Amino acid sequence: MSLPKITVIGAGNVGATLAQRLVEQNLGNVVLVDIAEGVARGKALDLNQSAPVMGYTARVTGTAQYEETAGSDVIVVTSGSPRKPGMSRDDLLKINYEIVRSVVERAAKASPNAVIIVVTNPLDAMVYVALKASGFPKNRVLGMAGVLDSARFRTFLAEALNVSTSVVEATVLGGHGDDMVPCLPLARAAGIPVAQLLPAEVLEAIVQRTRQGGAEIVKLLQTGSAYYAPAASACRMVAAILRDEKAILPCAVWLEGAFGLHQQILGVPAILGRQGAEKVVEIALTAEDRGGLAKSAEAVRGLCQQIDQWWK
Ligand code: APR
Repeated sequence: MSLPKITVIGAGNVGATLAQRLVEQNLGNVVLVDIAEGVARGKALDLNQSAPVMGYTARVTGTAQYEETAGSDVIVVTSGSPRKPGMSRDDLLKINYEIVRSVVERAAKASPNAVIIVVTNPLDAMVYVALKASGFPKNRVLGMAGVLDSARFRTFLAEALNVSTSVVEATVLGGHGDDMVPCLPLARAAGIPVAQLLPAEVLEAIVQRTRQGGAEIVKLLQTGSAYYAPAASACRMVAAILRDEKAILPCAVWLEGAFGLHQQILGVPAILGRQGAEKVVEIALTAEDRGGLAKSAEAVRGLCQQIDQWWK
């Protein structure tokens, strides 16, 4: 049986690591696209030369041409510019808006039936850009943030409990920013609510550390941002879609009334399958978490209004 086709746009740290994870799991043949064509082609060669050692059959093609992406089942957008010294968040928003808009317009035309997963930051706003640029149905454009933020939350909880991360379930809702909402009532270890296992002040510190999870890594690396866990999280979403898993994963999706939010992108639990985000799973939240989600939604709305102004 032929493998699915996955386009990864951006052959930088996240994109190349994602390509590696995808082929090592034989999830599909990968087309790695970058404006720096040599980088995409070089990393593709390097990955293909790993195949005989690692024992996978999936292939990687490196290119700057969108014709080679035609007929992809999934498109993952990681292309973007990192924040440079002296650059405001708005400057970054504008640069990445232009990049994401142009790559999605071309990739969507080449693969009209694909599911698009956006990874580029600021995440929720870039999902909005991809939605507008592709013209795809809302269920086929989603963003990767919740899986990553939840993975960070699970890691810190597991460390505090001294248990395996595999027994810890936890979900982070909201936008991928300082206002994200790590939901304590949904956090459990082998089904036991974590509030029964850890003191409140420890849990509060974990919630704060989760919110700052990306910044903690940026500070240590000094020259870039996280990529192993972001790539793992995007890979998990690609797998859920291509295998039509109907997995429930938190992702940034378009909301039309769920959680009291209308006509906007935000991170919530969704059922992921071959059609993308097939259904939003609405859950009861505490008043505090509901308030947190509303605040986070407001921040995302502000960025999207700015994008609407630029779009014209
Ligand atoms: N078309 C294709 N590729 C592009 C374009 C473009 N128009 N503009 C930039 N790129 C490529 C760059 O050449 C670079 O190889 O995107 C890649 C980005 O890679 P890195 O700078 O290594 O960034 P990375 O760490 O991979 O992060 C990518 O994901 O997690 C987010 O915040 C992060 O927005 C960032 C994105």
